[in-house]
Amino acid sequence: MTAAQIAAAYSALEAHRIEISQRRIMDFFTEDSARFQRFQVQLDDLLFDYSKHMINDATLAHLLHLARVSGLEEARANLFSGARINSTEGRAAMHMALRNLTGRAFMVEGRNVMPDVLAARRKMLDFVASVRDGTIVGSSGAMFSDVVNIGIGGSDLGPAMAARALSTFGNAGIRTHFVSNVDSADLSETLSQIDPAQTLFIISSKTFTTQETMTNARTARRFMAQALGENSIGDHFVAVSTRLDLVQDFGIRADRIFGFWDWVGGRYSLWSSIGLALAIAIGPRHFEEFLQGGQEMDDHFESAPLQDNIPVLMGLLAIWYRNIWNYPAHAVIPYDHRLARFPAYLQQLDMESNGKSVTREGTKVHVATAPVIWGEPGTNGQHAFFQMLHQGTSIIPVDFLIAAKPVMADDHHHDLLIANCLAQSEALMRGRSLDEVKTLLVKTNMTEQEIEALAPHKTFEGNRPSSTILYRRLDPRTLGRLVALYEHRTFVQAAIWNINPFDQWGVELGKELCNRLAPIVADELATTQDLDGSTAGLIAWRRQIARS
Ligand code: F6P
Repeated sequence: MTAAQIAAAYSALEAHRIEISQRRIMDFFTEDSARFQRFQVQLDDLLFDYSKHMINDATLAHLLHLARVSGLEEARANLFSGARINSTEGRAAMHMALRNLTGRAFMVEGRNVMPDVLAARRKMLDFVASVRDGTIVGSSGAMFSDVVNIGIGGSDLGPAMAARALSTFGNAGIRTHFVSNVDSADLSETLSQIDPAQTLFIISSKTFTTQETMTNARTARRFMAQALGENSIGDHFVAVSTRLDLVQDFGIRADRIFGFWDWVGGRYSLWSSIGLALAIAIGPRHFEEFLQGGQEMDDHFESAPLQDNIPVLMGLLAIWYRNIWNYPAHAVIPYDHRLARFPAYLQQLDMESNGKSVTREGTKVHVATAPVIWGEPGTNGQHAFFQMLHQGTSIIPVDFLIAAKPVMADDHHHDLLIANCLAQSEALMRGRSLDEVKTLLVKTNMTEQEIEALAPHKTFEGNRPSSTILYRRLDPRTLGRLVALYEHRTFVQAAIWNINPFDQWGVELGKELCNRLAPIVADELATTQDLDGSTAGLIAWRRQIARS
């Protein structure tokens, strides 16, 4: 692989785009009656349909060539080998070990980490079982009815998203809550819903230093000490962290500390003890099914040839639209109400991983990286932002996610949900031309002048691309496969862009400046003279209006 080969592969893609830019996706279907069969991949019941894209066989060949010359296969092998691919933090990224159920060895720094992983998983799942069956109870002997996870970013979004997605699989009658924001409204809303005697707090923080989490944790601790007495803390608080020393200082009992390792990135940690709140919600068996789903996707990603590999194809499509068509965003629309938090989860996964401007070597990247990832569940989005997807000036590729069967719902509703999902991807692709609109309007009693005036507004360009992921139902295994699928999709893009997807230095400057500002904000008399004019002015205005 050389820089010249990579540049040539991008140029070939650019030339190919010009060549096919006047084509319509619909024409590809007309020319090839087997297009749907040829542009799809099945992984058991999960079907990835990528036929509604602006691609043909030549596009795929060009994209696969780019993947090969960019060293995707070597990068994938490196990932699974446990090499220190997170070079700026000197760590491996071995989250796949956390969902391994096969007994296979996963090596980090020349050491098989599976014995540690299995021991940590056993400890966590034993605890989960005891909380759920009432063997472990609160300080007054009451069973836990509520679990509050305090964490942020990767220590919140994953378990919060998954607990909501799998809410119908929790049969122990335990409610889970997730508190992340340093805005006290978040914690106080949750505290107003719980009975302290029946509440277990999980302080989830890889570093155990994150400002928001530690502030919320201290406030929750004070609240519990006030409600039940200082001696109750040991029974009502547990912690999940890699910093066991700091956790002990907080006063959490040694047997209530669940560890993990620095080779697990925050946004890849849902599979570790960070999944504790999820595991309590759905139980050990379902949690293991979730892991199994993740492992199945790992096996597929590691072994399937590039052209039949779902994360690879999804990553390459993302490259095609981001770098060759210059599309700025990507929407993920689950037609699955319980996946409501999935887009927010993906925002951290994708944008914190790939929102980078320099290569692994520290030189400027010459192509655009992470697009904006966003979404909301269908059908709600249809009545909000779909107008822009259909008729806006920016083209936004979409992933539609839908289950063949509802987990627990009315079949009539679900048929309508599926019809809506398919109708949207069809409408995006098909569009409606000006002539078609006029032909329809002629059948009404409008005048010619009225038709001319209205027709442009009712015209849809169409030719807007989307993928559809159709799975049997949203159960723990399916969710595991979806999460691992998007993790690897993110990795594929990073490998092709030659960036490190496992660090996140971009969050540091804001944290540092906040630490400098916090004492100035808290002290009315503190000087603001070293601050920029806007920041100083805003602080002065805040001081003035907060007084009145
Ligand atoms: O601020 C970004 C970040 O470091 C994320 O990468 C991480 O998931 C989150 O903060 C929370 O970190 P921690 O688990 O250490 O509290």
